[in-house]
Amino acid sequence: MADLQHRLATHDDLPALVALMERAITELQKPFLDASQIASSRAIMGLDTQLVSDGTYFVIEQNGSLAGCGGWSRRATLYGGDASSGRDAALLDPTKDAARVRAMYTHPEFTRRGVGRLILDLCESAARAEGFTRVELMATMSGVPLYRACGYQPVENVMDERGGAPVPLTRMRKRL
Ligand SMILES: CC(C)(COP(=O)(O)OP(=O)(O)OC[C@H]1O[C@@H](n2cnc3c(N)ncnc32)[C@H](O)[C@@H]1OP(=O)(O)O)[C@@H](O)C(=O)NCCC(=O)NCCS
Repeated sequence: MADLQHRLATHDDLPALVALMERAITELQKPFLDASQIASSRAIMGLDTQLVSDGTYFVIEQNGSLAGCGGWSRRATLYGGDASSGRDAALLDPTKDAARVRAMYTHPEFTRRGVGRLILDLCESAARAEGFTRVELMATMSGVPLYRACGYQPVENVMDERGGAPVPLTRMRKRL
């Protein structure tokens, strides 16, 4: 992890982030989903510009190359991109609610180097600093091994059919 740098994403990063997410969604879900499910998953994944505007979205770089991105949220939406239905920008109450971990993507050329782990550390520290005591997320099948390795427990399995073919997801939680 030593040679990974992190910073908050800005709106200038958006085109590069969209390109990275596209590659991660297409390539890294192949061991877990069939082609129709990957196509369907686009409706429930991708960029959420609200996180960038909120200053809660991180970019990870290695030697100037974009290696990954991901963030957290103090808002109610649990998962999904700008195009997903059912979003809720209501602010969460740190004394009652779990902060959200959102939109984690690693560039396919930078997997298994601790990018995801670093983003989770950054998210958990930032959420803790705002008084949250729990974090929650909706994991893709590609994300489950990372979250398990980082102490998240499965709470519920769901199928999301908004994009067509049903996409399996697991709601997971961690106490900070
Ligand atoms: C999920 C994702 C972000 C993981 O990124 P990553 O940077 O490769 O993860 P890390 O290198 O930090 O992995 C940390 C640990 O998680 C586990 N892990 C991560 N990916 C794994 C995989 N594909 N298979 C098995 N274990 C895995 C391992 O324990 C790993 O530690 P190790 O490499 O020392 O064995 C990446 O695969 C991705 O972008 N997937 C497609 C998009 C997606 O579905 N995002 C999740 C949305 S909820």
